[in-house]
Amino acid sequence: MITIKSEREIDLMRKAGMLVSKMHQFIKPYIKDGITTKELDKLCDDFIVKNGGVPTCKGYEGFPCALCTSVNEVVVHGIPGDRVIHDGDIITIDVVIGYNGYQGDAAWTYAVGDIDDNKKYLMEHTEKALYEGLKEVKPGNRIGDISYAVQKYAEDHNLGVVRELCGHGIGREMHEDPEVPNYGVPNTGPKLKPGMVICIEPMLTFGHRQITVLDDEWTVVTLDGSDAAHYEHTVLITEDGYEILTPRLDS
Ligand code: MF3
Ligand code: CO
Repeated sequence: MITIKSEREIDLMRKAGMLVSKMHQFIKPYIKDGITTKELDKLCDDFIVKNGGVPTCKGYEGFPCALCTSVNEVVVHGIPGDRVIHDGDIITIDVVIGYNGYQGDAAWTYAVGDIDDNKKYLMEHTEKALYEGLKEVKPGNRIGDISYAVQKYAEDHNLGVVRELCGHGIGREMHEDPEVPNYGVPNTGPKLKPGMVICIEPMLTFGHRQITVLDDEWTVVTLDGSDAAHYEHTVLITEDGYEILTPRLDS
């Protein structure tokens, strides 16, 4: 069931989204050569709790941490641990925060120090693929319009579209209907209506789109070991378009 949020709920979701944005802004300066993913997680977990939020991922289907930290060939769901990040790496920080009973969800890929041109290309065009999807967000359009726009942009730029995972509705729960795939057919799927809130989250690869899951049953990596990037916003459908509830505070 796709829920339509009331004005009051939208206001609470705006607050949850803003805390997600602030956490991303908070952690950015710590993303440097030599830090472990588990240190990043601890910093964020403390930040979330101090600000009255709940780290929703922690305990979700047994996931142990507040953040998903996905380095280089890790696509999503990297578990924070002893892995040290180094200059030249890319790392996706993905977080879901509950605030007053509502969820905000956003992922960004960050560069650690100087990265090579291939990684820059992957990051730039994965973020742009998200914005191509966003252009389709308005009442009357359908989920498939978003999906197609993301896929078309990604494939036109020779990037692989991970198909096994997708975006989603969000509200009291982090995953609600509808599913928001990153590939699809225009003018198909559920119709977008004002008051719906969805997460759009392209996961793109520099090489082939095939993935596999590691023995920890969480970490999703590219099968060919190529790099992956992931950008996600929580987005409200408005009367005439959309509002990003997890705005970037650094640009
Ligand atoms: N943020 C992810 C999403 O967009 C979910 C994290 S999975 C978890 O769906 F298990 F860590 F919660
Ligand atoms: Co999400």
